Parts: sequence; C-alpha cells; structure tokens
Amino acid sequence: MANITDMVVARPSIPFVSPFVGEEEVEAVVRALRSGRLAQGPEVEAFEREICAVTHARHAVALNSGTAALHAALAAMEVGEGDEVVTTPFTFAATATPVLMVLATVRFADIDPHTYGLDPAAAEAAIGPRTRAVVPVDLFGLPYDARLDGVRARGIRVVEDACQAIGAWRDGAPAGSLGDVAALSFYATKNLTTGEGGMLLTRDAETASRARAFRQHGLDERGECASLGYNYRMPEMCAALGRIQLTRLEAVSARRRANAALYDERLGGIAGITTPFVPTNMRHAYHQYSIAIDGQATPNGADRDRVTAFLGENGIGFGVYYRRPLHLQPLFAGAGYGPGDFPVAERVARQILALPVHPALTRAQADAVVRAVRVAVGADRNGAMHAAR
Ligand SMILES: Cc1ncc(COP(=O)(O)O)c(C=O)c1O
Repeated sequence: MANITDMVVARPSIPFVSPFVGEEEVEAVVRALRSGRLAQGPEVEAFEREICAVTHARHAVALNSGTAALHAALAAMEVGEGDEVVTTPFTFAATATPVLMVLATVRFADIDPHTYGLDPAAAEAAIGPRTRAVVPVDLFGLPYDARLDGVRARGIRVVEDACQAIGAWRDGAPAGSLGDVAALSFYATKNLTTGEGGMLLTRDAETASRARAFRQHGLDERGECASLGYNYRMPEMCAALGRIQLTRLEAVSARRRANAALYDERLGGIAGITTPFVPTNMRHAYHQYSIAIDGQATPNGADRDRVTAFLGENGIGFGVYYRRPLHLQPLFAGAGYGPGDFPVAERVARQILALPVHPALTRAQADAVVRAVRVAVGADRNGAMHAAR
C-alpha cells in the first residue's frame, strides 16, 4: 500500500513488506516482452478470464491501477455532478478521490469499532436523497459488513473497494463478488501484484462494457469516441506477471493467515492490545495485520507511537494505516467535516499499527516481532532489546 504520509521504516532488518516474485514471474514477463504485443493483448484477456474464475465475477476489466478501477466503476454507473457517494474516512485516499474525479460529493460515515470497516448504521444515517452509491472497503483484507447491501433495495449501488482483499471470503463468496461492482488493486505490495495494476469486476454486462470504453479513451466497439475516457490500459507484461501470481494466491494467503494466527496467539491476551477481529462468516486476506494499542491500558502505559519508536530502534518494519482519517486530510476540507465528527475512526487512527505479515516472513522473524511488541508494552520485561522509553 503506497502511502507517502504513512510511516514505513527504511531498510529495517525485518522488512515490513517483501514482494513475493519468483523465476516463473520473470520468465512470464520476458515471454510477454518477446511476444510482439505489449499492451491490451492476449495476456490481459487471459488474466481477466482467470480472475473471473477465482472471484466468481461474470465480467472483469483490467486497468492500470485500483484507482482507475474505482474511477471506471463510478463513471460506468454514471455517478456525477450533484450526486453523493457515502464511504468510510478510515481508508486510503484512493477510495474517495475517484468520487471527486467524477465531480460528485463525498459523504463520510464512521466505522465499526471492531472490524474498522464502514458501520452500516452510520452509513444509513449519511444517506440522503442524492446518494447514488456506497463505497465500503474490505479493509486490510476483511470483507465489508453484509448489512450494507440493504441500501440496494433503494436503488443505491454498492461499489466494493476490494483493493486490499483478493483471497478473502464472506459467507463463501469471494471478495470482489460482494458489491454491484468491485475494484481490485495489484500494486507492488498487494497480496497479488502486477507492479501496478487493477481490475473492475461486475455481474452487469453494461457496466463492464462502459468500463472497457472508459479505459480506452471512451472508444466504443465501432471505434467511435462516444464518451469521455482515459488511457487506463494494462500492459501485457503486467498481466503475464499477474497470471503467475494468481496461481500462488492460495499458498500466499495461507502463509499470511499462518503468520496472523501466530500473532493472534502471542499478542491476543496482552492488556491494551486488540488483535484483528474476524467475524466467523469471513476469511481475512491479511493484506495488513493491524493491532490497536490503547496506551491507557498497556502494562507500562506505552501507546502506539512509543511502540513504533521501539520497533524502529530494533530494526523491525511496520506501517501505520491510517494515521489521519480522510475527513481530516486537506483535500477533503471542502466537505465540511472536522475533528470529532467520526470519533471511532479518529480513535482507531491513533491506535492502529500494522506488523509484517508478508509470506516471506520467517518463523524466527515473526517471533522477533512478537517479542519486540511484548517488550515495548511491558508484557515481557526480560528482553535484550532496547528498553521502551
Ligand atoms: C483501500 C484501497 N483503495 C484503493 C487503492 C488504490 O489502488 P492503486 O494503488 O492500485 O491505485 C488502494 C491501494 O493502494 C487501497 O488500499
């Protein structure tokens, strides 16, 4: 997850992220380079078909980022000026910036204190007569709350931001198949990467056809420029890379879940630390493994920022997603929100801390992360690490 404002320690001895790319990926990219077709060709078409099979989508439209996929989704549903879109403030900016790209208005609603996803009751309260879509995020890899789907009965569309969630499930249905339309991201740090890339998924043929035109300058099947479009095409090299990554998805997800299970077990009982909550009907993809640290309740009073300082001093990579909710970011100042408007999101933003959970993490590294967190909050006092300040 690229996020310039979020802190990721440079060159730690235990890296926070590590791309999982092998020789097969290298060979696939080289094959695509030698094929004579470098963009929007057979690799892209095959990647789209294969993603459909894994996510149960009827139509998949490859794009060159998750942001482009969200932009295409709103544009294909003809969300525009005068319309409102309800979403969470506790997410990456690219969940909400596409709303601005189509000149619609963002309405934020607070998050659930357990899942950190968009709270159904808060979303309901934010809906007004001009609301055209709700954009829940499968945050950190946990699918959004199914109760949000209730808005469909009123003709409001659900755009699933599944950019972090490929490989997750809710009630047996894959992330990416839960909304009317969904966006995946294949950015460098994602569970499945193409370097940069994204995919729009939908059951609706008309939405897919509009998204196909949108990614290619608005050109329709006859090659006529019928609507405003962009150059959002995916290169063949990226699709070739993604197809190999897709074959590894289950193995990579299992490694992430195993790392998460170890953290759950070893950090779960510590006062002041909350490990990720996973409803029983869901499978988490663990794009991020984020704990919340309540400095009022940890054994030594250490809060999130003291813990991150300690991890940094001990060469352990970490991330903070998200340090500042979107309603407090300068770009969204015009929306008229201020501090205190979304208290759950603001509290979680002060407490959240993502630990390394990537599939290349060794057991010894995971043990070292656990030990560092335990020492930092005063759960273990016998560590040889630098003492928490
Ligand atoms: C929740 C969320 N939405 C949207 C995006 C945008 O995806 P991309 O970086 O591929 O444009 C990301 C990825 O960074 C994300 O994490």
